[in-house]
Amino acid sequence: MRPLEPSVRESDEFRETVDRALEMVVPLVADYAFVHLSEADGSIQEVAFQHRDAGKEPELALLLRELRPSMTAPGSVIRSALEEGDARQVGVPPGVMVSSSSNQPLKEAVDRLGPRSFMVVPLVVDGGTVGTLSFARFEDDRPYDDQDLAFAKAVAGQTGLAIAKAEQIHEVERARREAIAATDEIRLQARLLDAVGEAVVAVALDGKIVYWNRAAETLYGYPAEEALGRDLSVTAPADTDRAQLTSAMKALSAGETWTGEVTLQRRNGETFPARFTGTPFYDDSGEAHGIITVTSDLTQRKELEGQVIQAQRLQAVGGLAGGVAHDLNNALTGIQGFTELILQDLHPTSEARGDLEEIREAANRAAVLVQQLLAFSRRQLLQPKRLDLNQIVLGMSGVLRRVVREDIELVHDLANDLLPTKADPRQIEQVVLNLVQNAVEAMPAGGRLKISTLNERIGTTQADSFHYFVRAGAYAVLTVEDTGPGMTDEVKVRAFEPFFTTKPPGQGPGLGLSTVYGIVKQSEGYVWIDSEPRRGAKVRVFLPELAAEEPGNELSTEEDGPARILLAEDDEAVRTVVRRILEREGFVVMEAANGKEALAVARQGQFDAIITDVVMPEMGGHDMVRALREEGGDLPALFISGHTDDQLVRAGIAEGGYAFLAKPFTREDLLRKIKEILAPDSSRA
Ligand SMILES: Nc1ncnc2c1ncn2[C@@H]1O[C@H](COP(=O)(O)OP(=O)(O)OP(=O)(O)O)[C@@H](O)[C@H]1O
Ligand SMILES: [Mg+2]
Repeated sequence: MRPLEPSVRESDEFRETVDRALEMVVPLVADYAFVHLSEADGSIQEVAFQHRDAGKEPELALLLRELRPSMTAPGSVIRSALEEGDARQVGVPPGVMVSSSSNQPLKEAVDRLGPRSFMVVPLVVDGGTVGTLSFARFEDDRPYDDQDLAFAKAVAGQTGLAIAKAEQIHEVERARREAIAATDEIRLQARLLDAVGEAVVAVALDGKIVYWNRAAETLYGYPAEEALGRDLSVTAPADTDRAQLTSAMKALSAGETWTGEVTLQRRNGETFPARFTGTPFYDDSGEAHGIITVTSDLTQRKELEGQVIQAQRLQAVGGLAGGVAHDLNNALTGIQGFTELILQDLHPTSEARGDLEEIREAANRAAVLVQQLLAFSRRQLLQPKRLDLNQIVLGMSGVLRRVVREDIELVHDLANDLLPTKADPRQIEQVVLNLVQNAVEAMPAGGRLKISTLNERIGTTQADSFHYFVRAGAYAVLTVEDTGPGMTDEVKVRAFEPFFTTKPPGQGPGLGLSTVYGIVKQSEGYVWIDSEPRRGAKVRVFLPELAAEEPGNELSTEEDGPARILLAEDDEAVRTVVRRILEREGFVVMEAANGKEALAVARQGQFDAIITDVVMPEMGGHDMVRALREEGGDLPALFISGHTDDQLVRAGIAEGGYAFLAKPFTREDLLRKIKEILAPDSSRA
């Protein structure tokens, strides 16, 4: 016995085959006929029947169902035919079937349908018996004979063949459907792999590429058609690290996964850092089939790491530069001051005059450098104000016209509704000037220089994508763009470093961009370079929007009358110079070498103003002035310093409304400032 697949039994082909068989025999050799199939569980079920009188078919259905137990019981004619696979015919004596049933409708059905003559032939498909074909005749007294049996067998034989064919068709159909499903699955998987951001590549055991997803196309630059069938080594640069390759191969052939940072090569020959993972894969039988590799490009991450390193290096250099600049500042203040004093005393025709003027010039040049260094190390005392970048740019048009040569087209593109920001206007002018100067120098044969402003918002996601802290929010952005040769990565990475320059020696110290960097950082902004070789350079300066409620605070000065001045300064040279300058102008000056001393001096006398250094041993200028204030003195104070990196000191000076003078300063600077604080109403800067 061989049960048919349920899916075959339910197929249209099977139904049609069975119906055709029944039509061939009813009414020719049977009044009715029916088909049984064996089931997988060993039972036997009727699956089709036909009566010469279609109106009797419901009754026939009832009869077949009711008689099924007796017809399919062990030893019954149908089961025997099925199990033994041979045909048989039986004569049914009148009345036999009737007596066995007590069920009234069944009794009637048997009465009406009970056959006189019955034959069963097995349905054989591919050598196995799948069911039976049964014939019944009752209206004719003629019993079935050998001829009838031979005909029935022939019909069953035909039917068996037809069922075999239906099975085949069905098999083919199923295989096709499975194939489609499998292809769909593969397609889906391929689509999933295509959606993966990493390059996924499968390699056969011989090293040939058998799968290449979309990210691989982008990463390596080969379209899949071109990559498939080639050796994976097309992605390795010629100078691949042999030792690393060997260790990878060893792990993979031992069936392990290998992960590492490698250098790979794109189609255009460009190499890039990548994270590479290779995993062996196996077929269903556990046979090694090849390697699946997943590769992600680390270029961007390396760049970000570079950003961090650069930021850290700039900070370290800044600290160093600031310290040096501070000491240089004091020295320069001394040189400048003494030189001026001597010049004043000198006879107008003295021969030494020229030399002294050169000293003064040299000191002034050095002072400018020191100033730039201080700007870079963010140790300038800025005087931030509410500021409109557009006004700064427009206000500089005279200066820019002088800096930008005729062969350069200067274009402005300023935003209408630019956000206000807060910074020191003089310093921002310096930023614009330095950037413009660089652009001009980058275009010796002329070109186009564009200065633009616009508003930009840095979203939180964008801010988080930086590897150092970037504040999300609204910014006013200044962009200076040129059509020069642009910068290589090496130059870009170092451009902000003080003294980094690609100019020939003596043509520029390399402090332009470091000054820009320091000023922008100190203004809580960001400066970014977008540049590639041959693509020009674009420097963008982001300054945070000034919040509506935040005032653009300005330093105010205080007033008072005559001329007794307390001078606190730890550097002796500076102190002496300041004292002598002041004394010449008729001021009375009392000296102190630090804050503590100054406090003591102040308590003993009456003063009209204090001039004090900010950072001093024992007690700094700010603490000293605050202590004096607390004692009730309300002296105007002028802070002199080249070194105000402490936020608190800066905030305190601004908040206290004190005046400030950056070292080194000239005699005029000092006198102007001191007069300002003594008579603030008449001359406010
Ligand atoms: N617009 C630009 N195009 C191309 N390269 C630039 C541009 N701006 C700056 N650079 C590069 O960055 C380097 C550093 O610039 P930076 O302004 O700090 O110093 P510098 O211009 O060389 O000297 P200095 O500004 O002190 O006169 C330059 O030497 C140059 O190589
Ligand atoms: Mg420069």
